[in-house]
Amino acid sequence: MKNLRVFGRIHNARRNYSPLPVDPLLRFKTISQTQKAPRVLITGSLGQLGRGLNSVYKYMYGSECVVMSDIVRLPANATDVSDYNYLDILNQGSIEEIVVNKNIDTIVHFSALLSAVGETNVPLALQVNCRGVENILQVAAKHKLKVFIPSTIGAFGPTTPRENTPDLTVQCPTTIYGVSKVYAERLGEYFNHRFGVDFRSMRFPGIISATKPGGGTTDYAIQIFYDALQKGKHTCYLRPDTRLPMMYDTDCMASVIQLLAADSQSLKRRTYNVTGFSFTPEEIADAIRRVMPGFEIDYDICPTRQSIADSWPMSLDDSEARKDWGWNPEYGLDETVQVMFALLRREEDKPTKIVSTA
Ligand SMILES: NC(=O)c1ccc[n+]([C@@H]2O[C@H](COP(=O)([O-])OP(=O)(O)OC[C@H]3O[C@@H](n4cnc5c(N)ncnc54)[C@H](O)[C@@H]3O)[C@@H](O)[C@H]2O)c1
Repeated sequence: MKNLRVFGRIHNARRNYSPLPVDPLLRFKTISQTQKAPRVLITGSLGQLGRGLNSVYKYMYGSECVVMSDIVRLPANATDVSDYNYLDILNQGSIEEIVVNKNIDTIVHFSALLSAVGETNVPLALQVNCRGVENILQVAAKHKLKVFIPSTIGAFGPTTPRENTPDLTVQCPTTIYGVSKVYAERLGEYFNHRFGVDFRSMRFPGIISATKPGGGTTDYAIQIFYDALQKGKHTCYLRPDTRLPMMYDTDCMASVIQLLAADSQSLKRRTYNVTGFSFTPEEIADAIRRVMPGFEIDYDICPTRQSIADSWPMSLDDSEARKDWGWNPEYGLDETVQVMFALLRREEDKPTKIVSTA
């Protein structure tokens, strides 16, 4: 479970970071001008990705189009959140009730236990990641909903080719997170061909956002920015040469919006790889040093997270997503570093000092 971060004393001297793009949401306008507003239910919406997607949908169609849900209390100052509801995805009746009462036509199912947290509580991971997905798909079948359930690079494993990993390849993951995500991919595809559920999925790499992460193996790539600003230094739990694919938050949101907006006929498969760029801890530290020359990194390896990272792809082939529905990420490593510092600095300047997503 994720907490929003309250800044303490900011260690580092002020620097001249590049400004945020004038309108980082510009590309969403085109879709909103050509597509009818959906009625979207986001589950697990107070996690790392949910609030950002809520903001993007509201930007595109106004506040009426999103219903947010989770099992935790709203933070007191969550001014970006409206129509927030308690929804435990283990209770199929409750999912159905909210779908009917709120006239939902699309579910974005974000509730999950991520890789590192999943290994600490396998029974709960099975419940949330498997039973939860079953419940969502059954409600989607009954009420003819479009449903997006993200998968992950964790759905691959040590026997998968690790460089430029294609969409169709060996999937023998060694974590409960990965196993449950392969199950979600297969079950979604089954519900698509058996019951006609409009199931769509993507294998996300690690997502870098200004919202604190929920216990995944790629979390260091966010924590490093907080530590850079607060301490000028980060201790990384992965080896310096551990290469993993990643993507900036706004690109992640664009991928969800674009895939959900794509014409069904253009989809050659129901689960696609998407990625932004790949880097190692050493390389992101170098990129941070380009804007903060005194930044330091050292290493205290976590065996659990390291062995998970070593079983995952180093880079993904997302050419099918680019070809079939126009996937085209806009942020590279340097742009991500610049926007992360700009966002965290902007939050630092707010009186409440609470970090929210871009
Ligand atoms: N963040 C990433 O880097 C990343 C990468 C690949 C895939 N994904 C996938 O994207 C989705 C969202 O990820 P995230 O980073 O926002 O996760 P997160 O851990 O930050 O948030 C998950 C949310 O699920 C909620 N939840 C847990 N149990 C629940 C239950 N029984 N009922 C309802 N809600 C429950 C939690 O309260 C939490 O707010 C997940 O499916 C994850 O596997 C994320």
